[in-house]
Amino acid sequence: LLSDAEKAAVVSLWAKASGNVNALGAEALERLFLSFPQTKTYFSHFDLSSGSQDLQVHGGKVLGAIGEATKHIDNLESALSTLSDLHAYNLRVDPGNFKLLCHTIQVTLASHFQAEFDATAQAAWDKFLAAISTVLTSKYR
Ligand code: HEM
Repeated sequence: LLSDAEKAAVVSLWAKASGNVNALGAEALERLFLSFPQTKTYFSHFDLSSGSQDLQVHGGKVLGAIGEATKHIDNLESALSTLSDLHAYNLRVDPGNFKLLCHTIQVTLASHFQAEFDATAQAAWDKFLAAISTVLTSKYR
């Protein structure tokens, strides 16, 4: 799915991001909720104010799962199987929302890692996040 060069671009940017998953994840979520307010409906039980503990903790979980996925790029389906069940059977998140989150994750990475997140790295991340989303939305209906 991803070329060796694309995998390398994903892994090398992750090495920079991995130490800061809570803050980066919270920012990606904050951007999601501000730009696409309809996505807030899934999180009515959260405190969505800027920088809240809920955003930090959940952002850390989301980016943590993405970081774990960087170790299983060739095997995303089995690596993400439990999360796939959760999103399809329990949460029933509309699949269209995944594109929106992938977008805000990329904007967050771009704003923090300007030099490394060049066009090639972005294309690799776009493909990687789309592959994760495909797995997480594969069990619907
Ligand atoms: C929960 C990852 C996309 C809504 C989670 C959890 C993870 C995760 C790791 C925590 C699971 C646990 O506690 O065991 C991801 C990844 C995504 C993604 C990697 C895509 C790249 C989305 C989208 C939405 C969403 C697009 C909705 C807009 C939720 C909700 C929960 C959740 C509502 C439960 C939150 C709670 O009550 O604690 N997700 N997710 N997810 N996700 Fe996702």
